[in-house]
Amino acid sequence: MKRIETIGVLTAGGDCPGLNAVIRAIVRTAHGKGLKVFGIRNGFKGLVENDMFEMHDRSVSGILPIGGTVLGTSNRENPLQYPVERDGQVVHEDMTDVIIGHFQQRGIQAVAIIGGDGSLNVAGQLHRKGMNVVSVPKTIDNDIPGTERTFGFDTAVQIATEALDRLHTTAASHHRIMILEVMGRTAGWIALHSGIAGGADAILLPELPYREESLVRMIRERASRGKTFSLIVISEGARPQGGEVSVARVVEGSWEKVRLGGIGEKLARRLEEQTGMEARCTVLGHIQRGGTPTAFDRVLCSRYGSAAAECLANGDTGVMVALKQNDIITIPIDYVCGKTRTVPLDDEKVFVARNLGICFGD
Ligand code: F6P
Repeated sequence: MKRIETIGVLTAGGDCPGLNAVIRAIVRTAHGKGLKVFGIRNGFKGLVENDMFEMHDRSVSGILPIGGTVLGTSNRENPLQYPVERDGQVVHEDMTDVIIGHFQQRGIQAVAIIGGDGSLNVAGQLHRKGMNVVSVPKTIDNDIPGTERTFGFDTAVQIATEALDRLHTTAASHHRIMILEVMGRTAGWIALHSGIAGGADAILLPELPYREESLVRMIRERASRGKTFSLIVISEGARPQGGEVSVARVVEGSWEKVRLGGIGEKLARRLEEQTGMEARCTVLGHIQRGGTPTAFDRVLCSRYGSAAAECLANGDTGVMVALKQNDIITIPIDYVCGKTRTVPLDDEKVFVARNLGICFGD
């Protein structure tokens, strides 16, 4: 393979704490190896529309602690089904060849795609079409297979934990049931970790549909011990046994159209009816994705970005960088495409939570 001299970098999908730290590590490492780096704006949209610029060291100066992404991102445009106008009609076309054309024109030989599971599917497709791709696993959901950690997760858990600590005081003072709805799509990792860290009385996961009776029993049993409040963390993808997930909206054109949300409020109403106690729901929403990354995430992002740039420089492509037993490794992109890493019900942290007396609603 020809020596790699020019690379591109893009951030795709929802924003996530640590994106800038990864971009910074890629640019610095690549420059240190004498590579030219192009930043691609707004995720795959920039690839299709040829919206790229050369990045210099000053392009990444001061961005390490800043949330969001200096490159911009989007979780709507899917380059494999890109909306284009043909004869006055909008049709969806695979733009892979257009993208490859833009890369050839600028001399870009390889690209780092910093993205979550939806973006990884696109990365896999570009790789199969012959593009040199290295992926970096991004998402607060922590649901990408092959890695023990995605970056952004630690920060989201920290934010959710702080929210639980704050809700705890209102729960205790007002003798209420306080519910925190957290993100995570179909994976309950944020709920599980923040629930343990924030001392929740119940953790409700998408992986384990809950029974209201079980929660009511837990609340009454606590009341009988003089604990006149309860703190519940519920994942946006959770649902009652025999019930459906709560859909907040459908985003047409997005590679993952369904946005979840609303289950926390539904549960609050049901528990209020059944226990006679006041119940309130707080939806943490995008607060979990914004702002400065934790120190753990900053270190992980720096390791991921540095490793991704090394891979690109060495021509070691078609891979995703990953964390395994605290080492940075690479795994084939094809291994992760189209899969989701949900919480196994025999996960050690589920056992720990049960030992602590936390109710899973089962
Ligand atoms: O995948 C990250 C995530 O924040 C999910 O946890 C959440 O369900 C979704 O993205 C929200 O997407 P949007 O920002 O489009 O509302």
